[in-house]
Amino acid sequence: MNLIDNAVFDSVPLSPLAGRRVIDPDTYFDHNKPPTNLEWAHTEIEKFLRRQAPDQRVVLITSGGTTVPLENNTVRFVDNFSAGTRGSCSAEQFLSLGYAVIFLYREKSLQPFNRNYSENTRGLLSYLEETEDGHVKVKPEWEQKIRRDLSEYRKYMDGGKLLMVNFTTLADYLFLLREVSLMLAPLGSRAMFYLAAAVSDFFIPSHSMAEHKIQSGDGDLTLRMNQVPKFLRPLVKNWAPACYIVSFKLETDPELLGPKAKHALDKYGHQVVIANMLDTRKWQVWLYTRESTEPCVIQISQQQLAVGRDIEQDLTEEISRRHQQFVADHPGSTQ
Ligand code: PMT
Repeated sequence: MNLIDNAVFDSVPLSPLAGRRVIDPDTYFDHNKPPTNLEWAHTEIEKFLRRQAPDQRVVLITSGGTTVPLENNTVRFVDNFSAGTRGSCSAEQFLSLGYAVIFLYREKSLQPFNRNYSENTRGLLSYLEETEDGHVKVKPEWEQKIRRDLSEYRKYMDGGKLLMVNFTTLADYLFLLREVSLMLAPLGSRAMFYLAAAVSDFFIPSHSMAEHKIQSGDGDLTLRMNQVPKFLRPLVKNWAPACYIVSFKLETDPELLGPKAKHALDKYGHQVVIANMLDTRKWQVWLYTRESTEPCVIQISQQQLAVGRDIEQDLTEEISRRHQQFVADHPGSTQ
């Protein structure tokens, strides 16, 4: 079977962009299925927000990559690069800076506090040992660190400051992003969006997908995918217009990074674009805002990196400082 013919979104209106098959965001929601945890997420977020003090700053952090299924009964999918390090580490930092955090993450990607024990190279069992009397305990060299992470994790979870909601596919992500955005909008400037997830730019609409596993016996597979509308536009303009919005820009070509980050700011009109290169993202990022023509560079040294310092510490401090100023400049602002 050839997915070219099936994937084109023939029956829906296209954006006026000349010659480009970009559907508008509302149409996207009409033609894709919401995730099964949408209702659960709505209820939990409502409870979470009700627990917060009236002046509590809240951040939505998105983290990890979205998948794009090739079949409705999915065996195969196209994935987006992201381990979830940026998001999970930033979540820890924002919590320590006093934020309430909604962590919207890709299932099985890194999670705050747990992230230190989910590396591919080291499984859970390598942290444990059996005692002479047959019990299992944490190896002494890990005890202090695990105790600290466990106590932080429990403090924020039990204290109602951390809520974790997971997604897998692009559609899951977008439905959940819209839901959280609409729920955070009434908080106005107190709410921040920190969009670190790596979001797919191409997809196959569910009504155009193969129902069952694509058969290899049918020969070569040619894929034609529709362009995903940029959801930053409705987020900034309609869903949460009074909130503080930080997006990320990831590139591999250094020539493109700065121009594309500036372009995103001009196009969507939000507050900050954090630009990073795939291979240097752990020690160098650039903050672009509309107030300044030059980006603010945040970097840590290789020595700092080697001793376990996370760039997210500096990054979240800087973003939090700017957000605080934004709140002061827009007191009590809602949509
Ligand atoms: O998780 P790690 O391994 O630590 O890696 C972190 C990271 C490199 C993934 C992260 O720092 C990062 O850059 N995340 C954004 C990746 C991304 O989607 O970049 P982009 O240039 O394709 O998109 C730019 C922005 O547009 C993003 O904020 C995204 O939320 C938004 N977008 C993307 C696609 C889409 N259809 N609609 C959107 O609004």
